[in-house]
Amino acid sequence: MLLGVNIDHVATLRNARGGCEPDPVAAAAVCEENGANSITAHLREDRRHIKDEDILALSQTLKTSLNLEMAINSEIREIALKVKPKSICLVPERRQEITTEGGLDAAGKFDEITEFVRPLVDTGILVSLFIDPDIKQVRAAVNTGAQFIELHTGAYSEAFGTGEEENEFQKLKMAAMLGQSLGLKVNAGHGLNYQNVCRMHEINGLVELNIGHSIISRAVFTGLGNAVKDMAGLVNGV
Ligand code: PXP
Repeated sequence: MLLGVNIDHVATLRNARGGCEPDPVAAAAVCEENGANSITAHLREDRRHIKDEDILALSQTLKTSLNLEMAINSEIREIALKVKPKSICLVPERRQEITTEGGLDAAGKFDEITEFVRPLVDTGILVSLFIDPDIKQVRAAVNTGAQFIELHTGAYSEAFGTGEEENEFQKLKMAAMLGQSLGLKVNAGHGLNYQNVCRMHEINGLVELNIGHSIISRAVFTGLGNAVKDMAGLVNGV
């Protein structure tokens, strides 16, 4: 499996003081040097962490590739069409949320998503839909034109080590199998850490895991390079 490192939290820390440190673009370079296969950054409508200039700089300096997270928002789509990241992950966005909470409602917003995705796919950008591991959502995602889904691992991560873990894990496994059988490539992410990530190897064919919070948290103690190296070892290993 590949490891995508989400660097939003580095930008959150920078913005807390309003200056330029720590620089998320420099952090991305450290992540790449230590085993990240791609870098994820979420350009939110309210620009609370990553800013437009970060996206531009990342697109010019990354040696791997940029995965741009964004909501269904035409202004952000214009930026994406200019910057042309390798991939985009569409997520729901609510102003009050602390982080992305639920998955995208691909079934309920099928027409809107299909329309939104078309120019991105036509430009050659790979599009992924961040959805809950729910059969209805997987089936809907197939026909939107998106080539990937990213399964929301938040419920599994919260249930890890409790009586609910197996149930949440099986939902992920079933959704991944269904997506793959319908021709989608399947990624996963949200809430994954150095313990719960290991079970992702029990799901056949996952392409990439996108992980942010646990890596940046560990970096406070071990340094970013070591934190990425440790996670890359767990994700890339068999
Ligand atoms: N994938 C998606 C679509 C996300 O929105 C996020 C959080 O920004 C992540 C992965 C990473 O989640 P975490 O920071 O909990 O590792």
